[in-house]
Amino acid sequence: MDNVLIAVDGPAGAGKSTIAKIVAQKLNINYIDTGAMYRAVTYKCLQNGVDIEDEGAVVQVAKNTDIDFKDNNIYLDGNIINEEIRTVDVSNKVSKVSKIGEVREILVDVQRKIGSMTSAILDGRDIGSIVFPNAEFKFYLIASPEERGLRRFKEMKEKGYEVDLSKIVDDIVARDEMDMNREHAPLVRAHDAVEIDTTGKSIDEVVCEVVSHIQGN
Ligand code: DC
Repeated sequence: MDNVLIAVDGPAGAGKSTIAKIVAQKLNINYIDTGAMYRAVTYKCLQNGVDIEDEGAVVQVAKNTDIDFKDNNIYLDGNIINEEIRTVDVSNKVSKVSKIGEVREILVDVQRKIGSMTSAILDGRDIGSIVFPNAEFKFYLIASPEERGLRRFKEMKEKGYEVDLSKIVDDIVARDEMDMNREHAPLVRAHDAVEIDTTGKSIDEVVCEVVSHIQGN
């Protein structure tokens, strides 16, 4: 059988990664967090003192970076960086990296390579529209900015960060703006994606909706 590819797109905090991870387990396929790849390049730039505004320098970093996923860990040049890419600093800068066309080309190539080798559920912004327009299943998850902010707020609190809810909501709205209005591969719902509004829904409810759609119930 051919590889089955499932695209999960939508704005930050809509529940994509939580849902995609569980669905991957249920279907026994790989989960690929494509946002983590853009975060990894951003993190590497910050670590090496590369100016995020200097697009040429950021592209050089992306070209000379090895990103891999194994057992739900993300590897940057051989080192696991699951936690390092989730800081507020990386979150606030990653949109500047992900809007660079050449960086996108490099990372989309990696994503397509992975998708050609294995069945997978991928979450991101452009999976159903650009990376895998022929994916078997496409979902577009949304939720109100307030609820998305609250989810991020709780996540950060649990990790011990001192955070301010209204600032998080503002950051999320700002990131939406950038992701939706950038020149290359802006965040958009693919015309054939199933839209699910996760506002007020439990994780279980959304997982059920996604799985029953895939299984044709
Ligand atoms: O899902 P996330 O918050 O980890 O994504 C981080 C950033 O990367 C976000 O600003 C959008 C961008 N991104 C993208 O442009 N394309 C993807 N396929 C995934 C993420």
